[in-house]
Amino acid sequence: MMTADAVREAVGVETIGIGLGGVELARTWFESICSLYAEVFSVPPFAWDEQEPVRHRQMLERLLTEPSFGITVAVRDDELVGFAYGYGVHPDTKRWENFLEPLPEALTTEWEGRTFALIDLAVRADLRGHGLGRRLLEVLLASRSEERAALTVEPEAEATQAFYQHLSWQRMGRKRTSPGSAISYFDAYVLPLRAQTRP
Ligand SMILES: CC(C)(COP(=O)(O)OP(=O)(O)OC[C@H]1O[C@@H](n2cnc3c(N)ncnc32)[C@H](O)[C@@H]1OP(=O)(O)O)[C@@H](O)C(=O)NCCC(=O)NCCS
Repeated sequence: MMTADAVREAVGVETIGIGLGGVELARTWFESICSLYAEVFSVPPFAWDEQEPVRHRQMLERLLTEPSFGITVAVRDDELVGFAYGYGVHPDTKRWENFLEPLPEALTTEWEGRTFALIDLAVRADLRGHGLGRRLLEVLLASRSEERAALTVEPEAEATQAFYQHLSWQRMGRKRTSPGSAISYFDAYVLPLRAQTRP
């Protein structure tokens, strides 16, 4: 039986670099991010329809106008094999609305700099299970100044939810999505990053 190090070597994980940056880094990898996004999220358990590549591309373009945008990329031999990105939530966000069970105000009140929203995270299927998802997240979150991170995930994505729970993210509840979305519900998670920052 191979040791863990031997497995990592065989898969080539030790040659993968993690890059941290902002809009410029995302622009460099924009097309690769869109391709990997489609490769990863067009298969079950994720909901997918033919409009999703266009929706994703437009969403990413909008995100790149956010001054607080941040991204990590995993790269091997000039090829993108993973990414994680998000931005700082605005105080007038609607992300805490439409929950099936109302959430406490202490959780839903936002202010500038309170919450980092993790929008997307993906690792190429053949390279999963070797610590890349954890590294992409850890490097990205360590670069942030917000008090907490938040994300939403499809209820059907049970393995993804188990991954986040393993990394200490706390499930806050389930919300209805906006009309027109390919998905009906999202489960919301929060991860405390540091002591409360309320001004
Ligand atoms: C979710 C995803 C990014 C995880 O990446 P990964 O590289 O496979 O995960 P890692 O190898 O870094 O795992 C980190 C830790 O989580 C644990 N873990 C991974 N999957 C798990 C699961 N399904 N249940 C419980 N723990 C899990 C690992 O055992 C590891 O634990 P350790 O660091 O304490 O030893 C990857 O599976 C993926 O791209 N999935 C499809 C897309 C997706 O779900 N994206 C998130 C959408 S919001």
